[in-house]
Order: sequence, then structure tokens, then C-alpha cells
Amino acid sequence: MVSKHDPVSRKIRHFSVTACLVPICSLYGAAVTTVEGVGSIKTRLHPVQERIAKSHGTQCGFCTPGMVMSMYTLLRNHPQPSEEQLMEALGGNLCRCTGYRPILESGRTFCAESSGCQQKGRGKCCLDQGENATSSLGGESDICTELFAKDEFQPLDPTQELIFPPELLRMAENPEKRTLTFHGERVTWISPGTLKDLLELKVKHPDAPLILGNTSLGPAKKSQGHFHPVLLSPARISELSMVSTTSEGLTIGAGCSLAQVKDILAGRVSELPEEKTQTYRALLKHLKRLAGQQIRNMASLGGHIMSRHCYSDLNPVLAVGNTALNLMSKEGTRQIPLDRDFLAGLASADLKPEEILESVYIPHSQRWEFVSAFRQAQCQQNALADVTAGMRVLFQEGTDTIEDLSLAYGGVGDATISAQKSCQQLLGRRWNEPMLDEACRLLLDEVSLPGGAPGGSVEFKRTLVVSFFFKFYLEVLQELKKPGKLLSVPDGHHFPEISDRFLSALEDFPATVPQGVQRYQSVDSHQALQDPVGRPIMHLSGLKHATGEAIFCDDIPTVDKELFMALVTSTRAHAKIISVDLSKALELPGVVDVITAEDIPGTNGAEDDKLLAVDKVLCVGQIVCAVVAETEAQAKRAVEETKIAYEDLEPVIFTIEDAIKHSSFLCPEKKLEQGNVEKAFEEVDQIVEGEVHVGGQEHFYMETQRVLVIPKTEDKELDIYVSTQDPAHVQKTVSSTLNIPINRITCHVKRVGGGFGGKVGRPAVLGAIAAVGANKTGYPIRLVLDREDDMLITGGRHPLFGKYKVGFMNSGRIRALDIECFINGGCTLDDSELVTEFLILKMENAYKIRNLRFRGRACMTNLPSNTAFRGFGFPQGTLVTESCITAVAAKCGLLPEKVREKNMYKTVDKTIYKQAFNPEPLIRCWNECLDKSSFHSRRMQVAEFNKKNYWRKRGLAVVPMKFSVGFAATSFHQAAALVHIYTDGSVLVTHGGNELGQGIHTKMLQKAEVEKSPHVQVLLGQGQGFRTAVAVETPVASRELKVPMSHMHICETSTATVPNTIATAASIGSDVNGRAVQIEAAFEQRISLSATGYFRGYEAFMDWEKGEGDPFPYYVYGAASSEVEVDCLTGAHKKIRTDIVMDACCSLNPAIDIGQIEGSFTQGMGLYTTEELKYSPEGVLYSRGPDDYKIPTITDVPEEFNVSLLPSSQTPLTIYSSKGLGESGMFLGSSVFFAIADAVATARRERDIAEDFTVRSPATPERVRMACADRFTEMIPRDDPKTFKPWSIPIA
Ligand SMILES: Cc1cc2nc3c(=O)[nH]c(=O)nc-3n(C[C@H](O)[C@H](O)[C@H](O)COP(=O)(O)OP(=O)(O)OC[C@H]3O[C@@H](n4cnc5c(N)ncnc54)[C@H](O)[C@@H]3O)c2cc1C
Ligand code: FES
Repeated sequence: MVSKHDPVSRKIRHFSVTACLVPICSLYGAAVTTVEGVGSIKTRLHPVQERIAKSHGTQCGFCTPGMVMSMYTLLRNHPQPSEEQLMEALGGNLCRCTGYRPILESGRTFCAESSGCQQKGRGKCCLDQGENATSSLGGESDICTELFAKDEFQPLDPTQELIFPPELLRMAENPEKRTLTFHGERVTWISPGTLKDLLELKVKHPDAPLILGNTSLGPAKKSQGHFHPVLLSPARISELSMVSTTSEGLTIGAGCSLAQVKDILAGRVSELPEEKTQTYRALLKHLKRLAGQQIRNMASLGGHIMSRHCYSDLNPVLAVGNTALNLMSKEGTRQIPLDRDFLAGLASADLKPEEILESVYIPHSQRWEFVSAFRQAQCQQNALADVTAGMRVLFQEGTDTIEDLSLAYGGVGDATISAQKSCQQLLGRRWNEPMLDEACRLLLDEVSLPGGAPGGSVEFKRTLVVSFFFKFYLEVLQELKKPGKLLSVPDGHHFPEISDRFLSALEDFPATVPQGVQRYQSVDSHQALQDPVGRPIMHLSGLKHATGEAIFCDDIPTVDKELFMALVTSTRAHAKIISVDLSKALELPGVVDVITAEDIPGTNGAEDDKLLAVDKVLCVGQIVCAVVAETEAQAKRAVEETKIAYEDLEPVIFTIEDAIKHSSFLCPEKKLEQGNVEKAFEEVDQIVEGEVHVGGQEHFYMETQRVLVIPKTEDKELDIYVSTQDPAHVQKTVSSTLNIPINRITCHVKRVGGGFGGKVGRPAVLGAIAAVGANKTGYPIRLVLDREDDMLITGGRHPLFGKYKVGFMNSGRIRALDIECFINGGCTLDDSELVTEFLILKMENAYKIRNLRFRGRACMTNLPSNTAFRGFGFPQGTLVTESCITAVAAKCGLLPEKVREKNMYKTVDKTIYKQAFNPEPLIRCWNECLDKSSFHSRRMQVAEFNKKNYWRKRGLAVVPMKFSVGFAATSFHQAAALVHIYTDGSVLVTHGGNELGQGIHTKMLQKAEVEKSPHVQVLLGQGQGFRTAVAVETPVASRELKVPMSHMHICETSTATVPNTIATAASIGSDVNGRAVQIEAAFEQRISLSATGYFRGYEAFMDWEKGEGDPFPYYVYGAASSEVEVDCLTGAHKKIRTDIVMDACCSLNPAIDIGQIEGSFTQGMGLYTTEELKYSPEGVLYSRGPDDYKIPTITDVPEEFNVSLLPSSQTPLTIYSSKGLGESGMFLGSSVFFAIADAVATARRERDIAEDFTVRSPATPERVRMACADRFTEMIPRDDPKTFKPWSIPIA
């Protein structure tokens, strides 16, 4: 939070900022409050920190300080905020773990209208006795709906907040007028104290930009390398923050932030009559969606206008609103229009180098004038628009005849485009259908976009150009139709009627505050109070996350003589390395060395998967060498100066289609078959064939990959601090790379800021390269990837292409199913074989189909290697299966849920790989979900809504889930733990699982605190091989020793204390490590107070030859239903409601388990709706950061989001009958996908177009809009694909 004295209002302004964009010099005179300054565990927690932790609003904790600061800033300005203000404050923050609900809930406890009950908005309260009593979840009164106790919270006392430092206040009240100059290594920052000085400096430095928010200059410097040796900061010039009003309009200082502009406009809108504020309202509409609040707090109006970004939201509206720019220089002032020429950057219409923009004049609108704004982005909040528009029409008084018309578009060219020619030709026309048709034709001609235009999505953008105009047409028509509006309608009966069915095209989706209930079974009333199992215990590190005291890898303070490493990566997809020229890089100041493959003393990875490239590269982003320098900035600058010459090699393969063509595969086909598929196809009523494409997914863990390698002086020992899910793998890889024994290397993992599978394999590569650097230089090496490099270098979820053939009876019963899948594995094997196996094993999902054939293959392409990702192929493969179901339903004229139900496993049975299981919990989840969500009655309501609305369609879907947990090999299920009991009774637990945010340490201590179940055999192991020593039978842990959780501690995961750990993945971490923590120690029997627990692993195997096995220890069952509303004109959707019922068996910690379900559901929702990786035809990943890659934000949470854990059903095999829920929820996100597909199918039916269409995930607004074909999609020009080079290529 930045606090500044505002010279105009003379008040202190507190605002949140995006820290990485704030230049340190801009903070002169400002007070900065960070999470550490708000409160701490050592002194006093701030209520915001306490509440976010206790409400379970933190999992990995990496995003938590940001969330805390956004909420804290809100409370500094509004101690009792509204829920809308809370949503707005958090709209710019990202979290990859929680699904946002608990974060929002913690903030809601401060809101004026909040009672703490999430159902209050619907007029009933979950705490009302009746609600629980009537719960159909077992109909029991032992169902809880509270995950935290609000009455524990300390109250917020605004008088206790930090005050604005008096010395800064004194400085602000007597502002210094002299110019301040800060000299950096390469840049000079000049901050004049007066306007006169600023204007003089502008003459002296005509090329120096004015720096205000730095939200345009900063990103341009980072991603495009723009460099300015001199920067002029007008932050202290109060004239640039002035606001004045006249009877004609409003003048706003160019230095005002967009957040201030929003407040100023809102003020004018509330004071003036509606007809005068048309432009202000349109601007406000965009200001609510433009970026997040932090950016709006920083970005200035002047900076926004002058940046002239083609995607600018405000410039099109300002342009149509006849805005004028007040310019100033030493020579005087002048005014220019913010028009087409200015926006195109024509020198004749632009500022002179010595001029600055002082203020912006926005005139009032007049009677008979209407102004509107439109934008469509990948998601509602925090996303640059694909197309944005401002539109204004002025009618001849009392008529519907166009006197003046202005239409401006952003996102459809290099600059904001003003459709002047079209507007000219429409003057004098009446506002009717023929005018609409003519306007669309003219616009498509004038606002033309070539097929290969940068940014892609060309046909979508063309469609939006006319769809927006249609919306404007309807909006204005609606206004004109208001009684008494028109004085004379020359030809009354020609005045077009708008049917009520069309009116919903006018409404925007409001940003609503999500509500919901979480239900779980309370613990047995006989359970001891100190026994924490089954209770919603706060994350062990929750408070430390919230105070910033939790140490992540890069928080480790700089160690003596530490150097920084930056990676040089390939810019070619498949090429021979001709030469590597390091000379310039090595000459740069601070550069110590460049590490190449020749510096590796041991093995350079595998033959086909090298750590550092030798001779050739296989993808863009492959690591070639690494610069070691004294600082991060020096290392990165040297990377730019490393010159590599390449010679391209053939073939270059990016897409699955090309890989199939070239038979380019990473491993043999995996296949499972049962029954007689061919024969069954001959006997069915109908057969449908189809294709499904599922895009990849970036892990987008909040903490990017990072490692710190510290060489020790003795015996070649190395300490490695690394953010990984698999420290043993890092240890082993470093050992083979440096050719030193494993026992010299210790890997430490305190906590990981999110992994999701992305930190299983890659950290070993980075750790090994950093270790080579440490080995060669003898100094500690820190390697921290920034987001862009992380996304470029590391792979993600495998994109999938699936072909299906399904044979079924007219009743909807499926008799035969044949699915062939291909996944895009990238350039090396990594986990692709495992992912293919899982895909095939899990693809049947919840369905019993007698004749089945599943085949899967991993394609080798010239892309970074794809790897493990939450769900391991299940979320992709099952989308194919579920798409078959919807296709069958469409052909049979049945509802998809009926076909699902008909084909589901119902009784004890065997899977396609002959593993026996009992689907009873699956059926319970399904029925509960239908019941809890009132699915069938809502189906009718949806149909009713759809009948009444042409441009809006609602969709509803429910999906069942049978998710197998674990790996198909016993060795992967081993685990060990070490418990020390100290003589004061405190207990130190160390186990092999890594804390990734999933709460494994919390669960371990919960487990460690209770008596072990008697049948578990615990072995004291010795080193590698875990030779059996003693089996002891006396419980160590708290119950016997009366040790409460607070006396137990988990320090870190370390390869020195628990060796040979398995990766913490596949939802299995808590289970297997929990087993190991169930130590039988020996206090009573006078045996050692240190014990190693070892769990041999669940028995699991798979025989692929026979297609049979017992590959999974157990299953997680669940069901989810979702309802959405789709805007057929833009492709946007709103999530109305989601209900999830999950079988967690006996949840060890319902808060953590519900958090895992919500978080993985949200990540799944991202996979299936917004997260889209885009590659250039040369194989370069475009989407390398939050600007281009959209993970869900707080505004994506369903308006109503209910999660229920099925009351306990015992799974005796697992620890205390709990289940690993980390991954399964991913797939449930597909209920949103199928709800969207349902809405699209309804629209297509109504428009008489084929209901079956190729399913492509994610269901982005582009895909949805183009699938809802109509007169506008028909009128756009289509390019012959052979005539242009596309901007991006589909790789699935
Ligand atoms: C994460 C993020 C999300 C965003 N999302 C959106 C979005 O959804 N929609 C959208 O429209 N925009 C979006 N933007 C862009 C944002 O609106 C602009 O970057 C911002 O308005 C620029 O203002 P600034 O004060 O930060 O400019 P700066 O970066 O400080 O300056 C930009 C340029 O303006 C010039 N300049 C500034 N003031 C003056 C002046 N008074 N006289 C002359 N020249 C001047 C400078 O010389 C410089 O060249 C986003 C930006 C970020 C970083
Ligand atoms: S808790 Fe939010 S990113 Fe992990």
C-alpha cells in the first residue's frame, strides 16, 4: 500500500499498487506499508491477517500477502466496505490454489452487510436450525456448514492503524520546489517541483518520457526492451491533478489516476441529468473492467491517452465523445482534438516533443445524443479486450434521423480506429433495420482486418465489430422508444419493434458477489476435544503466510558471495547449433562466467533430454547455456548479448496432426479393450463419430521455479534449497551431473508456492544447472525464473486430440465405444508415457460400457516437453468420454443427464482393467448433486429462460466422476517419516511429503496427534532399501503422550532426514506419508525416542499385455452440476451456480479438503474455459504471462458455489479412511464447459443449425461466439487459409 498526501484534496490517499511496476524513485514523499508492517505473529496480528488464515483463505500462501494488502488498503479507506468494494479490491489479485471463495469470505467478515452467513442474500440462513435438520445429505443434524468460528476474530479498530509519518506530512504541506535528480547506473530520474521547471526540462530532454504510473513504460521496457536514459517525473506537479467543471463539460488533469477519474466521473453522473452524462457513463462502464484496481490506482489518464495502445478501452470512448486535449509547453498552451489522426499518431495532430498533456476536456453529452461503450475480453476482469468500442449517435431533434455518428474501435489494428467513412455515409439515415444492415456492411469494409493480423482471432474480431454495433442499435432504439422521447416519427408503423426476446442482448453481466455453502460431517460427539482429526484446522503456516513471515525459497537472505544465474534459451524450434559467441556477454560488468555443457563434470541429462543443449536444439525455450553474474540485472543483460547461430533442421513439428503425419511418437501406443467392439457396432441403432480438441494448460504456480545452491567447503558437499515436489529427484540429478555421491547433497524444501505437477521434473534440471555453476565458480548460485521464462521453458498439461466412435441404442444405452487419443508430449518423454497410461486407464470415468476400446499415444513435437499436471491426463481424456455422451444425447433427443445416468456403473463391478470396485458412493454423489442443486426443476427454469431470450442462453450440465488415486506401481506409494521426541515433550516430525499448499504438514500433525490404528505395521528403516529392523506397537504421538498439536513441529522436507522420497503428486501425499507418520514409538518401552516410520506402499500393478491390473489403491467419487448464461453476441458467459458433492470418506480436515476441491475445480474451470496457450507458426509461445494467459480471477467464481462432502463412507485401506482430493476436482470444472456447450446447442437449435459441432476446449468467448452462428457471423468476410500466414497455430 502506498500512502501519499494529495495536494488538491489535502487528504492522505491510500492505494494498493502492483509492486513490480513501481519505480523506487516514484516513492519520494510517499509512505509504503507492506504486509510485514501491518502485523506479525511476534507482535500483533492485524485482523485481516488473522481472518484470512483462520477462514482458510491461504493454501500455498504465496498470494496471501498480496491479498492481505489489497484488503488492508480497502479497510484503510472504508472500514466497513460493501461486498462490491471488496470484490473490486480483490479483482486484481490472482490466486492459483484456493478458488477465491475462502479469501472472499474472510474479507466479507468486515463488510457492513455481512452476517457471516453466506446464504443471507437469499433470505435464509444456514445456521437456522431447520436448514441443517432438513439437509438431505444424510438428513442428519451432524452436518456442519461452518469452517471457522467468527466469534474468535479480534475486532477491527481503525484507530490502531499506522499513521501517515508526520515528517512526510510536513514535507507535503511545505512542498520543496527544487528539482530532484536521482542518478542510477544507466538511468537518470528527474522530478521537477514546478510546472515551469517541467516545461523547461521537456525542452532540454525532448525524447524523455513523462513517467506517471509506469504501467505502460514499465511493461514496454521489460518485454520489448524499450530503454530511456532520462525519465521526467511530474508526480509533484499539482497542476496536473486539477479538476474543473463548467456548464459545458469537465476538465480532468492528465496526472489523475484512472481510479481518481472513476470517482470524478461517478460524482458527475450522480449530479447531472442523464442526458448530459452519456459519455461519462460509457467511460465508467469501461473503468470498472479496465485492468484491476492496483493498475487503475497507478495508471494516469494522461499516460493512458498518450500510450495510444490499440487495445485502449478509454480512447475509443473519449474519441467519440469529442474530447479535447489541453497541451502545454514553454511557449504556451493549445488545444487539439483527441481524434482519429491523433490516435493514429500523425505528426500534424500530435504533441510536439517539448509539449506535455496538461489536462483532458470531456464535454457533456446533449439531448438526442447517446453514447455507449463495449468490450469483450477472454474473461471479465483483468483482461485486455479483444475488441473494444465507443459509439455515439446524435439525432435531429425530436426524430430518429441521424445527425451525427461516431464509431471507434480498439483491438482491430495498430491503433484505435475511427470508422469515419461509414459514419459519414449513414448521416441522414433513420435508425432502423435497413440502416443496421448498411452500417454492418460499411463497417466490415472500413474496419478491415487481414487474415494473419497480429493477435489472431480475426473472424471473431470481425464478428464483434458488427455485434457491438447491433447492441448499440438495440440500446438506442430502446431509448428512442421510451414514451414521449420522439417528438415526431414520420412514419409511425415503420418504427421497428424490439421483441422482449431480444432485450437481454442489452444487459452486461454484472460482477456479482459469490455466495455458497460448504457442508461436511461433524466429528463424532464422543471424539476427544484435543483430537484434531476430522476438524477444520487452520493451515499450519496460515498465519505466517498472512504476515509474510513464511519463508519461500527466494526469501532466503543473500548468502556471502552469492551469484545470480540467468538462462540462455533457444530461439529456434529444431536446429543445429553452429556457434555460440559468449565474448560480448563475458565483457559486461558483473558477469563472472557462462556455463555450457562442457562445464558439466558428470552426465548431461539423458541422451535425448539434455540439461544443456549440445549441437542441436529441439524446441524454442530449450536451455543452451547459463550466465552467472553478480546481480540479476547483470545476468539478464548478458543473456541478451549471448549470440547463438543456428541452422534450421527438418522436420519441424508442432501440431498433433503433423506428428501423426510424420509418425513422430515418444512411446508405443497404450491400449485397453474389452468385449467385442466391432460386433457391437453392427448391432446398435445408431453410430456417431466425432472429434474433441483439448488445449494444454500452464501450471501457473504463483511461485515460479527457483533454486539456491550453496557449495560447502568440505567434501564437495552441497546444500540445495529448491521449490520442488520431488527433492530426491533433484538430489539424484545433481549427483549424476556433478559426478559426486548422493550423500554429499542435501535438498531442503520448506514450502512450495504451488506445484500442481509442474515442480516434479523441472526443478531437477534447474537445480543441476545451478549446481554446475556453483561447482565451477565455487560460489553460491541463485536461479529464479521470471514468469515469462518459466512459461517459455517449462511445459504444462498435454494438449489432446481425440477421435471417437460411439454405438448406441435409441434409448441412450451405449453399447460400443472406440476412442483414440493423441497427446502433444513436446520434444522429450518426461512424464508423457505415464500420462498416456493414466489417460487410458481413467477414460471410462463413471460408465459401464461393455464393448470398449481405448488407445492413446504421446506425440513428439518441437515444443517444450509437457509434463505432470494435476489429474495426469484424466481431465483431458474424460472430456472426450463426456463429449460422446452429449453427442449420444443429442442424437437420441434425450437430456445428457439421462444418458449419463443410464450408462453409469450401478453395482459392484470391474473396470475396463478388471479392478473390482463398488460404485455405491458414486451413485450417492450423483443423486445428492441432482437433489442439492434442484437440478431437474432448474432444467425447466432454464428451458423457460431460453424460450424468452434469443441472444442470451442458459445451459445446465451435471457430470459424474470416478477418479482413481495414486500410481499404477507400488514403488511410487512408499513413504517414510522421522519423529523425534524431545525430553520436554515436544515432537519434531519430518516426512517425505512436500508442503505445496495442499496442507500436507497440517494433516500430518493432525494424524501424528492421534493413536495409530492397530493394524498398521511400522518399520524402523536403515538408509537405502529400508531394511526392516524392529516393528514396534506403542503409539508415540500426542494422544498417548498428551501432546497437543501446538507441541509438534514440522521443520522442512529434507533429503538428509527422510531419504529416497517419492514425488508429492497424484493426490497420494497425505495418504502414504500419513501412513509413515503413524509411528509406533517407544516411550513406554524405553526404546529410542527417534523413530523412522516407513510405509511400504499400497500394492498396485498393471499388466499392459493382458490389459489387467490392480493399478489404483482406491477411487474418489464426485459429481458437479453447473449452470451458465451465455451472451450469444459476444461469447461471454456468466457462471450462475455450481454444486459439487464429493466423497471424501472421513475427511481428515474438511477445511483443507473443501479448499482442495474448490481450488482444483477452479483450476479445471480455467482449463476448460479461459486458459489458452498460443503459439506462433515458428513454435514460439506467445502467452507468457498474466496479460495473455488468463487463469480464473475472483470474478470467475460461480455466483452460487456449494460444496458438500458426502457423509462418511469408510475406505479401510486409507489413513483414517480419508481420501486424497488434490486432483480429482479438476475434472469437475468440465461441468461449466458442458453447461456452456448446452447453452450453445440451444442457440444453434433455435437458429436451425446443426446441433453437433466439434468440441474444442477451452470454451473461450471466441469459440462460443463463433459457434452461436447468426446473421452477423454470416456477414463477415472469410479468408481462404491458403492466402495468409496465421498469427497462431492450434497445437491440439
Ligand atoms: C496489468 C495491466 C493491465 C492493463 N489493462 C488494461 C485494460 O484492460 N484496458 C486498457 O485500456 N488498458 C489497460 N492497461 C494499460 C493502462 O491503461 C495504461 O498502461 C496506462 O493507462 C498508462 O498510464 P501510466 O500513467 O502508467 O503511463 P506511463 O507508463 O507512466 O506513461 C506512458 C506514456 O505516456 C506518456 N505520458 C504520460 N503522461 C503524459 C503527459 N501528461 N503528457 C505527455 N505524455 C505523457 C509518457 O511519456 C509515456 O510515453 C493495462 C496495463 C497493465 C500494466
Ligand atoms: S494460496 Fe493463493 S496462490 Fe497459493
